[in-house]
Amino acid sequence: MGRSPDSGAKRLFVTQRLFEDTVPSAFAGSSIAVDVRDADEPLDAGELAERLAGYHGVVCLLTDRLDETVLEANPQLEVVSNVAVGVDNIDLSVARRLGITVTNTPDVLTETTADLTFALMLAVARRLPEADAFVRSGSWTSWTLAPSLMGVDLYGKTLGLFGMGRIGRAVARRAVHGFGMQLRYASRSPLPAEEERELGATRVDLDDLLGAADVVSLHAPLTQETRHVLGAAQFAAMKPSSILINTARGPLVDEGALAEALENGQVWGAGLDVFEDEPDVHPRLLAVRERLVLAPHVGSATIDTRRRMADIAARDARAVLEGRAPAHPAPT
Ligand code: DGY
Repeated sequence: MGRSPDSGAKRLFVTQRLFEDTVPSAFAGSSIAVDVRDADEPLDAGELAERLAGYHGVVCLLTDRLDETVLEANPQLEVVSNVAVGVDNIDLSVARRLGITVTNTPDVLTETTADLTFALMLAVARRLPEADAFVRSGSWTSWTLAPSLMGVDLYGKTLGLFGMGRIGRAVARRAVHGFGMQLRYASRSPLPAEEERELGATRVDLDDLLGAADVVSLHAPLTQETRHVLGAAQFAAMKPSSILINTARGPLVDEGALAEALENGQVWGAGLDVFEDEPDVHPRLLAVRERLVLAPHVGSATIDTRRRMADIAARDARAVLEGRAPAHPAPT
């Protein structure tokens, strides 16, 4: 789908389908020629590099990899607009060197992702998928005081947050105000003192956090420093009664080591929305049947939020191509 460009008009490529009305509404009255690829899966790097030839901008999803080869092959790009807050799929240093603006979609998905974080926490703690399967299979024959599917409480427990950006803070607010939880957090920079006081949050290093937390929840971006921040040594340092939640990026966790920690009881349970090699899931994780809840990277997947993300990305791409500052330049 596309409009034929005036000669000299800027051209924008959208790598995968958005919502039907996103492009018409974001580009109303614009002379930018927009081509939307009619597909729901990414191109590989070679194909993407070729497809971008002659385009001044690209709106992409987090499954599109705009690595060095793709960007180097397309130095004419003025903007890469990612329909996600995480930008680990884009080589930011190469984009910077080539003068390509990168934009993302913060804010609109903060509360939605924090909700999913809590949904996973509760689903693991109260073993909801197992309970659902138990009822459907006809295994429920009578109410007993100590059923096989007993869970653990979240109320009043200690939550350890790795990463205290927008989403980490939204999770923290739910934890403190809704669940009376105590907060420890590990992050590059401290919260403003007033916010720390208000949340009763204590900044600690990761080792202290792992030793103290009943639930560890990850909210940091994927960088060289955070890749496999949780591996065998860290799982050994966690309480055997603890729960791990990851709604950030899969590669923060060594999945093989997590499977082992769940199997040998070093970690009680886990809720994962993101994986090291999406959409593939480590076979040893798939084999864990108890206290492990898996979701297909749906942290921001509500209708309103995904629509807003697409809209923001399209409008920011338009802004750059029309010589205006984008509302959401990605942090560099
Ligand atoms: C993001 O935006 O980075 C999420 O992973 C998807 O919403």
